Amino acid sequence: MDEKHHAEKANWEKLVDQTLKRFPERSQNFTTSSSIKVKRLYDSEPESNQLGYPGEYPYTRGIQSTMYRSRLWTMRQYAGFGSAKETNKRFRYLLEQGQTGLSIAFDLPTQIGYDSDDAMSEGEVGKVGVAIDTLADMEQLLDGIPLDKVSTSMTINAPASVLLCMYLAVGDKQGVSLSKLTGTIQNDILKEYIARGTYIFPPKPSMRLITNIFEFCHDYVPKFNTISISGYHIREAGSNAVQEVAFTIANGMAYVDAAIESGLEVDDFAPRLAFFFNAHNNFFEEIAKFRAARRIWAKIMKERYHAKSEKSWKLRFHTQTGGSTLTAQQPDNNIVRVTMQALAAVLGGTQSLHTNSRDEALSLPTEESARIALRTQQIIAYESGVADTIDPLAGSYYVESLTLEIEKEVQKYLERIDDIGGAVKAVEEGYMQREIHQNAYQIQKNIENQEEIIVGLNKFQLEEEVEPDLLKVDETLEKEQIASLIKIKHERDENAVQKALATLRDDACQPQVNLMPAILEAVKAYCSVGEICNVFREEFGEYTGV
Ligand code: 3HC
Repeated sequence: MDEKHHAEKANWEKLVDQTLKRFPERSQNFTTSSSIKVKRLYDSEPESNQLGYPGEYPYTRGIQSTMYRSRLWTMRQYAGFGSAKETNKRFRYLLEQGQTGLSIAFDLPTQIGYDSDDAMSEGEVGKVGVAIDTLADMEQLLDGIPLDKVSTSMTINAPASVLLCMYLAVGDKQGVSLSKLTGTIQNDILKEYIARGTYIFPPKPSMRLITNIFEFCHDYVPKFNTISISGYHIREAGSNAVQEVAFTIANGMAYVDAAIESGLEVDDFAPRLAFFFNAHNNFFEEIAKFRAARRIWAKIMKERYHAKSEKSWKLRFHTQTGGSTLTAQQPDNNIVRVTMQALAAVLGGTQSLHTNSRDEALSLPTEESARIALRTQQIIAYESGVADTIDPLAGSYYVESLTLEIEKEVQKYLERIDDIGGAVKAVEEGYMQREIHQNAYQIQKNIENQEEIIVGLNKFQLEEEVEPDLLKVDETLEKEQIASLIKIKHERDENAVQKALATLRDDACQPQVNLMPAILEAVKAYCSVGEICNVFREEFGEYTGV
């Protein structure tokens, strides 16, 4: 800082001292969610800031050279409840209302590989997502949706290989070549062990299934994103922004290591790795978080894994606004929260976005709430002007300083996880889980002692809350779903089923065999999710957690 600047700043500080006498600051300790100190004023560029240009390494300003000036982010609302038929109706509604990508929410039985008629599924069929037992359900779910035109995300992890094969089989039936299908399979088991819980098998066989998908899609479904390495749920479990990026990137590195170990070349699979982050409340920290994440991943892929393809260096991500920030109190306030979080995701350069509905702290969204959530994105896209220039906050003293600070703090975590022996070991030792639980406890304490204000929850409450209209999932659904599964099992070719399951079991017993072809044959014979996963349960065992 030159002499003149120093003098001007000294003058300003005198003014501040005067003002503080009459108006002391609201807090002695302004910090971000990651406990990064927020200075009273930022008045210079941080040193060694690597900004670069959008679309150029290290992509701080975005992964595309033109970003939203050429193509807006994909408006991709996570949806699914009840039967395949009901969800198909909601999908068509959202597409008619202008959403530009599909995102399937599966019910818990599907997510943990049980059929709707399994005792473990009782009371959960179609509850938090759509019930998918066999290919027949997937055909109904995607009925009338052109898979050569719409990209589909599937939030499925342990049985990801099974649901992906069902999707490919539907594409096949629609006459769409596998090489034309676009979409993303979440397929991220490590965050399930850490935060979300829908795991089935132990780490080793799980990593095998994951890297089998990498290899199979490289060969046959090259436009499909083979994993959505997720920080969303890590944040929802109570991590801060730095931990969200650090643990997600550490998991990403574990998948890269596993794929290379399985014999794949880094540039053969890395371009189809995708990410998924949370958009939380601290506006500038969230924007800086996304910019830092891009820069960190680019350097890791180029310098640690020596990836040669630029596509391997680009961190492409989907964002969902923070579900855990929604309040059941005064639900309309959530529209404001979601708007700010969505704006942060856009200013942070997201490729795809889901905006939560105002009533999701209470239930799955009604059609009206889901429409308002989608309209929120459309208003940001078409009315605010923020998509008309690239990375508009670049050069902001605060945002650049925060981006660099987050990058440094993430680096420290990555070194710690490296010392433990990588993300899989860190998960098995419960390291990330402990860090998250400590932070979650601190958040809760801060809310209880009003260090952190949540409007409507611990300040500005209403005497009494009026419960809004909520979506009700039809209770008879479970019976109907079970009846339709029994009918499918009755009508299918039992010999083909037994043959397909026997081949699957043989392949499962040979660690070097890619399981995808056998899974594809099994789903085409209308084997169910539960039948396929039970073969794997018998051959791989089940993970009981740390
Ligand atoms: N210039 C040039 N090309 C551009 C461009 C530009 N400005 N903008 C986009 N493009 C190109 C892209 O390169 C891409 O082409 P390619 O595939 O040949 O490279 C094409 O246009 C489509 O663009 P994107 O790939 O950026 O957009 P998509 O929406 O297709 O993909 C993604 C985004 C993040 C890569 C992808 O992984 C995705 O869609 N993820 C979504 C995941 C998701 O929805 N998850 C929901 C989970 S819900 C959950 O788990 C929460 C629950 O548990 C509560």
